[in-house]
Amino acid sequence: MKRIINYLGFALLTALLFVGCKKENQSEKSQSTQMENIQVSDYGVTAKGDSIKKYTLTNKNGMKVEVINFGGIITSLTAPDKDGKYEDVVLGFTKPEGYFDGNPYYFGALIGRFGNRIANAKFTLDGKTYDIDKNDGPNSLHGGKEGFHTKIWTVEPIGNAETPSLKLTYVSNDGEEGYPGKLTTTVVYTLTKDNALEIAYEATTDKTTIVNLTQHSYFNLSGKFTQPITDHELQLDADQFLPVNSTLIPTGERRNVAGTPFDFKTPKLIGKDINSDDEQVKLGKGFDHNWILNGTGLRKIATVYHSGTGRVMEVSTDQPGVQFYSGNFLDGKFDTKTGGKNEHRTGFCLETQHFPDSPNEASFPTVVLKPGEKFQSKTIYKFSVKK
Ligand code: GLA
Repeated sequence: MKRIINYLGFALLTALLFVGCKKENQSEKSQSTQMENIQVSDYGVTAKGDSIKKYTLTNKNGMKVEVINFGGIITSLTAPDKDGKYEDVVLGFTKPEGYFDGNPYYFGALIGRFGNRIANAKFTLDGKTYDIDKNDGPNSLHGGKEGFHTKIWTVEPIGNAETPSLKLTYVSNDGEEGYPGKLTTTVVYTLTKDNALEIAYEATTDKTTIVNLTQHSYFNLSGKFTQPITDHELQLDADQFLPVNSTLIPTGERRNVAGTPFDFKTPKLIGKDINSDDEQVKLGKGFDHNWILNGTGLRKIATVYHSGTGRVMEVSTDQPGVQFYSGNFLDGKFDTKTGGKNEHRTGFCLETQHFPDSPNEASFPTVVLKPGEKFQSKTIYKFSVKK
């Protein structure tokens, strides 16, 4: 009897050890898989001497997204075409210095504290007027000259074997670029199994402030960065847009798109009305306006289709607006990643956000963030093909 008990005890111990080992192996395996889908490499050194890293996220289909901890910039993003060929579809520089030394077009960057323009580079909050950096004629654009696109973010690889994620954090001190409050921002980039890049933003503050975060990637679904994006078809779920003045500040009017070049309710080639005589198209030098998105909550707001390659990009967001910018200021000064120069309108942006100049326009949805509150927002760029 004693022998039997001893034997059973030994068997139980062996079984426990076996299960334990198996668990350990499994967790080792999942860790190494996680390492496999996020590769870290040296990217370059800034003029200030900061060593910048590049993080490459890969999913099982072979889609890749490259992000650097300078500006949270997406330097490359691949998407399949109708033959299953993955190609880079975001504009960028050929050398790290392009991003480090000013990035005049905001290629691929995270934008904060305030995406888009603030009129006359000032706003009033709780009776106090704040002067912020004037970097776009009389206005402030994209958080000022030293906005979030120039900052070094802390990066933590997270996620699991199937969905690699990067958590980026930046703490902006009280008064930075003229904005009140110490603002802590996190942005999580996730590459999903179904070829989507999800971007989740969060921000908290220790003093009442304003915030409007976005991502400034330029897309060219042809994968050829010298080709104009006018042959892409765009559909935007918006009945109204915001007309602007000569410095691209919204006038406060909400205008119906029906019967104007701004009507993308059904799919239309970007090039169709881009050179129209319409006063608003002329002011934007093409499209550079905020559309008021229909509906609320996380919803699909845009679809872009490039017939030559069959590539489709769908955009979903919980934000009230999107700046559709047709790359009108691209001016051929830099080499593209596929050779040639970054000529006029060779990329477009769909910057999901609150309305430009919201702090100075009481009728626009509020962008005020108070201590104890959490700003949260999500945008998804999903890639597929139409044959
Ligand atoms: C935004 C603006 C444009 C332009 C680009 C950067 O999209 O709306 O007017 O400033 O950024 O070149």
